[in-house]
Amino acid sequence: MKIVFASRNGGKIKEISDMLEGTDIELASLNNYDNVPEIAEDGKNFLENALKKARVVSGYTGETVLADDSGLQVDVLGGEPGIYSARYSGENATDAENNKKLLAKLKGVPQESRGASFCCVLVLYRTDGSYDCFEGKWRGQIIDEPRGSNGFGYDPIFMVPDLKMTAAELPAEIKNKISHRGQAFAQLKESLRTKAKK
Ligand code: IMP
Repeated sequence: MKIVFASRNGGKIKEISDMLEGTDIELASLNNYDNVPEIAEDGKNFLENALKKARVVSGYTGETVLADDSGLQVDVLGGEPGIYSARYSGENATDAENNKKLLAKLKGVPQESRGASFCCVLVLYRTDGSYDCFEGKWRGQIIDEPRGSNGFGYDPIFMVPDLKMTAAELPAEIKNKISHRGQAFAQLKESLRTKAKK
């Protein structure tokens, strides 16, 4: 089954290909399609953004499309940076700049009040306009000193309390099993398995 993944983000494409290993899904990256324009992520929430990306990319490619929207929601900041996670400190911001801005906002906030969730909404959009949505949430705490060099984005400052490690210290296989994206993908795979049996 061929599915186009609606992203050009190398870090995400790698994670997602790993998660779909062992399934019969042949994942094509958006980088293989140069007719698809940049899509403004101007929705009010993760679902609106993922659905828009999936619908537009399916229109241009004529294929079934998987799109996700994800981000970090920090409790004490009322859910910031949320849908603005990738561009928290401005368009084209680097991960280091975004992390720096977040840590500046959390200056003086005690560790016990630094709860946060990584969230991921996944949309599987078919060429007939029907779609399914899946959602994953991963709880953690934001720490002041970045640790680890795996992953991307806010991983080095996202501490997983049960494991006492940051997401960037976790091996990819572990992160992919327990992360927000891992949870949403597990639901997607279960749904595909169930539909295949019918
Ligand atoms: P998206 O590409 O619009 O979904 O933006 C996602 C942004 O949220 C990324 O650029 C990161 O800043 C952040 N993010 C989402 N998932 C993760 C993750 O697994 N680790 C670290 N940061 C993440």
